[in-house]
Amino acid sequence: MYVKKVRGKVMRKKLFIGGEWIEATNIQDLYSPYDGEKIAEIPFATIQEVDSAISAAEKTKKLMKKMPAHERADILDNVSRLIGENREECARLIATEAAKPIQTARGEVARTIMTYKLASEEARRLPNEMVNMDAAPGGENRTAYVLREPSGIVAAITPFNFPMNLVAHKLGPAIASGNPVVLKPASQTPLSAYYIADLFDKAGLPKGALNVVTGAGSVVGERLVTDDRVSVITFTGSPEVGKDIRNKAGLKKVTLELGSNSAVIIDKDVHIDEMVDRLIQGAFTYQGQVCISVQRIYVHDSKKRELVKKMKEKVDQLILGDPMDDATDVSALIAPKERDRLLSWIEEAVTKGAKIVTGGELKGPMITPTILENVDSTMKVSCEEVFGPVVTVSTFSDWSDAIDRVNDSDYGLQAGVYTEKLSHAFTASEDLEVGGVMINDIPTFRVDHMPYGGLKNSGTGREGIKYAIEEMTERKLVSFKLS
Ligand code: SIN
Repeated sequence: MYVKKVRGKVMRKKLFIGGEWIEATNIQDLYSPYDGEKIAEIPFATIQEVDSAISAAEKTKKLMKKMPAHERADILDNVSRLIGENREECARLIATEAAKPIQTARGEVARTIMTYKLASEEARRLPNEMVNMDAAPGGENRTAYVLREPSGIVAAITPFNFPMNLVAHKLGPAIASGNPVVLKPASQTPLSAYYIADLFDKAGLPKGALNVVTGAGSVVGERLVTDDRVSVITFTGSPEVGKDIRNKAGLKKVTLELGSNSAVIIDKDVHIDEMVDRLIQGAFTYQGQVCISVQRIYVHDSKKRELVKKMKEKVDQLILGDPMDDATDVSALIAPKERDRLLSWIEEAVTKGAKIVTGGELKGPMITPTILENVDSTMKVSCEEVFGPVVTVSTFSDWSDAIDRVNDSDYGLQAGVYTEKLSHAFTASEDLEVGGVMINDIPTFRVDHMPYGGLKNSGTGREGIKYAIEEMTERKLVSFKLS
């Protein structure tokens, strides 16, 4: 019903502040990335409206801190259940606003249900610990422990590419550890965030503990980042914005999940047939708009012809189309300007000597899934984050050279390694400069409780509920002098 309203009449959304739906001063139209149809009217918050969201969060700080763990866990469990009861509606919402193919959107909803469930479990086991005070002279006759306390207001700034699950990766740990939140979802995908706010309300979250304000980064984002009442900023998005946040955040804690040009190395001893489908999935799921998409493939010389031939055969069978269609594999990029950017990058690569194996064309609002070879590391399709349906294939003959080429990047989020050789697996896991190494898999692998984050321009800090909680809590030492 919810999506029919979105697709049919055009829904007008309100800000969610202090547990109430507030009519906003400014409204902007939201359009479908696939067919350009107007799908909703969205609040563009003013500074005053952001201020009142922060004030509402501030008022619930004590309440959230004192709330027993089992109550926080129950709220998160309720949200998980409510999403489960509305899973098809959630998937359709994501497909509508993000042009995410519906089958992939359903996968995101399943992950979101799990993410809130994991958060519910973590709420019950915050990592408090004992300290052996007598390990150093002077510490005798004392017993001490370290409490994990909520840091305070969390400002969550989320991207368009996982409008439910990456919101869950911020709201889940924040609420599990007793922090109120002000959420600024991506301007293109606010509907999922407002939907989740409604579910939190139904799930029993105190009014004001979650506030959702949509609008311009220069107004909403800027205010959240610079306001002294905010204690933690958790951001997923581009390195440029991430660096700007860090420069302006002062003493706030900042977690940054930024981009990548993720690579996979394919050794000479592997069976190509066993990995082709997985590589294609890693490169083209959601049009490649995933931070850990397979962007650079480094394959041993002896396997390149076979790999490229087999990949091309399968890539040419991918179905392009309407994200609401069950058969669609690949749909439109999030905005026409991203389409233009990517086409110009492909053109730059070709001008510098790259060869298009397949794809590289416009088909309606979509770019056909593209494989490029003869690519060098100066081309934007290799050294920048593509965030689109493009994968490059290069060769190596020496294992350490392959590792160096993966590391020859400003990014370092995750990498994949296919090899049968234990020594190669170990050198790769030791020497790759990334936050996660996936042996015998693509860099795109993620389950929602594992630590997730990167080095270099890929960011700082880690997500994955337990690890995100570390970023959103303060350690407080309590020492008892016994005699
Ligand atoms: C991301 O794009 O950073 C998230 C990837 C994922 O959760 O699978």
